[in-house]
Amino acid sequence: MKRLFAILPIFLLLPSCSRDDAIKPIPYENPEITLSIPVGFPPLNSSVNGNKPTKFGVQLGEKLFHEKMFSANNTISCASCHQPSNAFSDNHAQALGIYDRVGLRNTPPVQNMAFMKFYNWDGNILQLEKQPLVPIITHEEMDSSILEVIGKIGTVHEYKELFRKAFGDENVTPERIYRSIAQYEYTLISANSKYDKVKRNEGKTFTESEARGYQIFKIKCENCHSTELFTDQSFRNIGFPVNPSTEEAGRARITGIPADYMSFRVPSLRNVEYTAPYGSFGQFPTLRSVLDYFDGGVLNADNLDPIFKENGNRIPLTEQEKQDVISFMKTLSDNTFIANESL
Ligand code: HEC
Ligand code: HEC
Repeated sequence: MKRLFAILPIFLLLPSCSRDDAIKPIPYENPEITLSIPVGFPPLNSSVNGNKPTKFGVQLGEKLFHEKMFSANNTISCASCHQPSNAFSDNHAQALGIYDRVGLRNTPPVQNMAFMKFYNWDGNILQLEKQPLVPIITHEEMDSSILEVIGKIGTVHEYKELFRKAFGDENVTPERIYRSIAQYEYTLISANSKYDKVKRNEGKTFTESEARGYQIFKIKCENCHSTELFTDQSFRNIGFPVNPSTEEAGRARITGIPADYMSFRVPSLRNVEYTAPYGSFGQFPTLRSVLDYFDGGVLNADNLDPIFKENGNRIPLTEQEKQDVISFMKTLSDNTFIANESL
């Protein structure tokens, strides 16, 4: 990495040196974007090192993220489901794709992806660059193919320009599409909530209710919703109502082992205020309904998480505690993330 920085300045000087040299291609500037990594966040996914965001890579990725030509009938973009104003999730219980086809699962927010080890509810993807093809070819999402997508965007002048600026020439390749989208996603970092400002001593303090909620959260929730991402990225069955689709098995879909049946990746709770409904297929309309469910008792299962098993299959919460925990969870709302991205 150090080496690239050393080469960069020389590279930038090239235009003046080679002004008279007609054979050399015109050099362009595509500086690397330094990710501002929030204090205390988990380590970056190692894929980021192999695909560092650049100015034009990110610009291209953002444009592709909003590109409806990704879907067979040009109606659905990534952003149709991952809406910037909802922390890149949507308000549907289950994802709504092309021709209003209903998907298996709830659309998760796309935020802080650079710090995740596993993607999707069942963690079947380990590198962000491997993810974009999935919605493109999924029948209920975009129902297209990568060749069809390339056929469409490859003719657009603006895209040719951006591919050249981002990657050196106009070739529109699957790899470049995936890499630029991932670069854009790597820059979607949310760490500017009230919670963050309190932690960073930026003059904000919790209200009494938020402070009480934080204490309860540490005792009753933090076992799983830990780290600065509010997920330990483990897979657990916590006895939520089960998706009736025979296609659903949670993490067991990937591993095939009964101990993973209906286990899901612990979701991050950052921006949770904006990402209703909740649960892997949107079982819960509100945060309150999630807490009422924990309090009332969850479904039993052989592989129900021990934390629930050892507590009579529930997380008891008084009325006051519920209100306080909800107040605390709302301190995780980063309206600068929402506002910036919805422009
Ligand atoms: C029809 C709605 C829909 C469309 C269109 C869509 N997604 Fe998604 N996205 C989802 C759902 C649902 C999941 C969760 C899938 C699962 O867990 O099996 C998801 C998961 C993801 C994740 C992983 C998030 C996490 O928390 O691990 C990323 C990243 C992502 N999508 C990016 C994209 C990109 C890039 C595109 C466009 C190429 C796209 N999505 C198109 C609905 C959609
Ligand atoms: C044993 C681990 C564990 C504990 C303890 C736990 N959670 Fe969770 N939580 C999960 C998992 C796993 C899911 C996803 C489950 C699913 O969809 O089937 C989840 C889902 C949620 C959701 C829905 C989020 C979304 O985006 O869909 C909320 C909100 C939530 N938990 C809040 C809490 C709060 C508040 C507490 C403490 C009162 C708590 N959790 C305790 C593991 C846990």
